[in-house]
Amino acid sequence: MIVKQCVLAVALFLQIYSVASQEIPSLPTIFSDKFKFGFGGLNDQVVRKGLADSSSPIFKIVTTQSNILSVNCFYPRQVQPNQADFKWDQCAPLLAYTKQFPEKTLRGHALLWPSNPKNNLEWLLVDANGKKVDREEAIKRLRTHIQTIVGRYKGQFQYWDVLNEVIDPNQSDGIRASLWKDIIGPQFIEIAFSAAREADPKAKLFYNDFNEWRPKKREMIYALVKHLKSKGLIDGLGLQQHVTLTEPTAIELDRAISRFAELGVEIHVTELDVEVNRDGRYTELTAELDQQLAKRYKELFGIYLKYAGQITAVMTFNVTDASSWLRYHPKPHLTWPLLFDAQGKPKAAFWAIADR
Ligand code: GLA
Repeated sequence: MIVKQCVLAVALFLQIYSVASQEIPSLPTIFSDKFKFGFGGLNDQVVRKGLADSSSPIFKIVTTQSNILSVNCFYPRQVQPNQADFKWDQCAPLLAYTKQFPEKTLRGHALLWPSNPKNNLEWLLVDANGKKVDREEAIKRLRTHIQTIVGRYKGQFQYWDVLNEVIDPNQSDGIRASLWKDIIGPQFIEIAFSAAREADPKAKLFYNDFNEWRPKKREMIYALVKHLKSKGLIDGLGLQQHVTLTEPTAIELDRAISRFAELGVEIHVTELDVEVNRDGRYTELTAELDQQLAKRYKELFGIYLKYAGQITAVMTFNVTDASSWLRYHPKPHLTWPLLFDAQGKPKAAFWAIADR
């Protein structure tokens, strides 16, 4: 009897050990004939710490589960907190990681962010006496900001989000109100793109936005990208894809991507996550919720795969549930929006999309 129990215990241990040490399939390999796969939002305390430690689950996940990374250490307030200074230290940890993997494609995020006053560089537009600079000076400052960053990393970053979230459906011209718009006019958008183009003619330049499936916004984004494309200033459109279990519907999303596909530019899904607990009803990821999330990821990837070729990359924001920004947005709450749980274990959603 004792011998039998010992044999059973050893068998159980071996089984658990082999599951724990089992390599999980690599999503970039699974999607290799469709699009690149990877992560955005890496400039997060938990992720940075993980990437600095090659034995951590985060290091392992990012290393084995990505062939593209969106490096978000270029938020304007961090790079140029005042007119005189450019700061690069915040990029050091991420660049120390990416340097070890030169085969991974890099996107830089984001050079100007008009919906976020803290990140819209408006401090460059007012002099020490509170007086607004003139148009010529504003253009000069915008160009300097963009060219200093893109020029510094010329050849290293294949993609740049030049502009993040400039569309505002509540404006009649669709362009968000800002000091840039006041002083330069909506042409500040073209000026930003052409400054980036001059600084690195080989880099692919993107426009990136959220709620991109909502019809009014969708059409405004479409018109902006079409205009920039007609001037040869843009190469792609970033769809953030901060979605929920129900919004957008599969039909709305398909309609939006099919509309954007008409533009003939590359499309990246740049910041995918699925909010499952906005109202804070759940205190844990129940088996049922886990399954709903898996079903939703399967549905989303079904649509992305349909547009493979036009969609050239898909990235989640960021790596595991532990460090998702949604846990603080719009207020602190538990949620489980990603493919890997807080410990870095693949969830049902991972297996749902890995199973093609
Ligand atoms: C937007 C930005 C991201 C990130 C999130 C969360 O989606 O594009 O870079 O900052 O907001 O703050």
